[in-house]
Amino acid sequence: MKRAYIETYGCQMNISDSELMHGILAEQGFSTTDKPEDADVILVNTCAIRDHAEQRVIGRVGQLQQIRRDNPDVVIGVTGCMAQRMGESLLGRAGGVDMVMGPDAYRQLSDKLAEVVARRGPAGRLPMSQSAPAIAARGLAVLGFDPHENYEGVAAKRISAVSAWVPIQRGCNYRCTYCIVPYVRGDEKNRDPQAILDEVRALAADGVPEVTLLGQTVNSYEHGGWNFPRLLREVAHVDGIRRVRFTSPHPNDFTRELVEAMAEEPRVCKQLHLPVQSGHNRTLKRMLRRYTVEEYLEKIEWVRAAMPGISLSTDVIVGFPGETDEEYEATLQLMRTVRYDDAFLYKYSLRDGTPATRLPADQFVPDEIGSARLQRLIETHRAIQAEIYQSEVGRTEEVLVEKEGKRGGLQGRTGGNKVVTFEGPVGLIGHFVDVELTGTSGSTFVGEMAGALAAA
Ligand code: SAH
Ligand code: SF4
Ligand code: F3S
Repeated sequence: MKRAYIETYGCQMNISDSELMHGILAEQGFSTTDKPEDADVILVNTCAIRDHAEQRVIGRVGQLQQIRRDNPDVVIGVTGCMAQRMGESLLGRAGGVDMVMGPDAYRQLSDKLAEVVARRGPAGRLPMSQSAPAIAARGLAVLGFDPHENYEGVAAKRISAVSAWVPIQRGCNYRCTYCIVPYVRGDEKNRDPQAILDEVRALAADGVPEVTLLGQTVNSYEHGGWNFPRLLREVAHVDGIRRVRFTSPHPNDFTRELVEAMAEEPRVCKQLHLPVQSGHNRTLKRMLRRYTVEEYLEKIEWVRAAMPGISLSTDVIVGFPGETDEEYEATLQLMRTVRYDDAFLYKYSLRDGTPATRLPADQFVPDEIGSARLQRLIETHRAIQAEIYQSEVGRTEEVLVEKEGKRGGLQGRTGGNKVVTFEGPVGLIGHFVDVELTGTSGSTFVGEMAGALAAA
């Protein structure tokens, strides 16, 4: 039996795509391995969102070349967003890549892997001491966009039996000026709601208690009279599903109807990731985010009024071209106003081909200033986050146990999506347990099982 190893970078959509690829390869008789040196096929599923993400992958693919020495038959492929962005040029990079494949082409995965092997000659083997140009010359690049591809009918092979990613949408119709996603993943494509519900029912039947609905702008979902609030409610009504989350909603498509669905459906987790990107209207305008700070804050108020205590998180970019001190200070101020439970904070990274590259060169924020702004924003956020976490110590929360903790014990999440580690038997993985939060690192909790279960 042939073995496949897939290493994943980037967002949840990419994790979900890797599960899809494992499913596609399983159909062809491949098994999964978590050791690249044991694999016949190594795929690196990549992200293109920032330059740093791409540099890491180049370094990693370079490292993986060592495996060719012991196993000259191995096929090394690069898939995902960076593969789509860099295309054929990637074949000759990082010591040589056998196959480059974009996010719309995974149905062809098995066929193209077979083609790569066939192109190596009758023995299907690369001669020893291959150079990157020689590997590239035999390599394949599969980069076609398919405006209808949403992988309907392809069964994913999921990593977790506790919490499942369920993609409901691929691609993106927004054109935020900094962002590469629409250029590597194409326009928005929404899946049939009945197919989504069938998938969720099958997961529930397998005993999976938690699902997270995925899309780049998940709440813009629309399909034959269905909108996102309706789909969310229906998913929450599937028997056996006890927690529903979704990511990432766009503030612009965030409606009162959605707030009502979240508030009224007890199985929808009281947690919201609502990317703001900047706290100043001029920056938001240059980013083409299509909302104002005031509109964003009003929506946060709706959410908090309907669901007091809801856990909030966001994404922010600092150092976007033209960002003045005043604009940056407004972002700090917004963080102090909203007080997020969690935040993903980034320094702007220029992406070739995106509209922001055409902003006047003298508007680009020097790297040192961008780094200093990021550092201060991180410190500001961490202090707020630590205060929030500290204030929650002593509470008892329902925790879904996901896995063993890194330093022993168990690890799970609260409804608010906060990580808790505590002592307990591994048999509790996949179960809900009441845990008293006894301490915090400032961004995670430690706890103790509470009540009857602890005594048992
Ligand atoms: N579709 C999601 C975001 C996906 S990318 C949404 O719209 O919310 C995840 C995050 O990466 C973005 O929210 C943004 O904060 C960040 N990001 C995107 N492009 C970036 C760039 N060029 N430089 C730095 N950060 C970027
Ligand atoms: Fe990128 Fe904007 Fe689309 Fe999100 S909404 S994926 S940030 S273009
Ligand atoms: Fe990265 Fe692609 Fe996701 S660029 S953030 S892996 S959609």
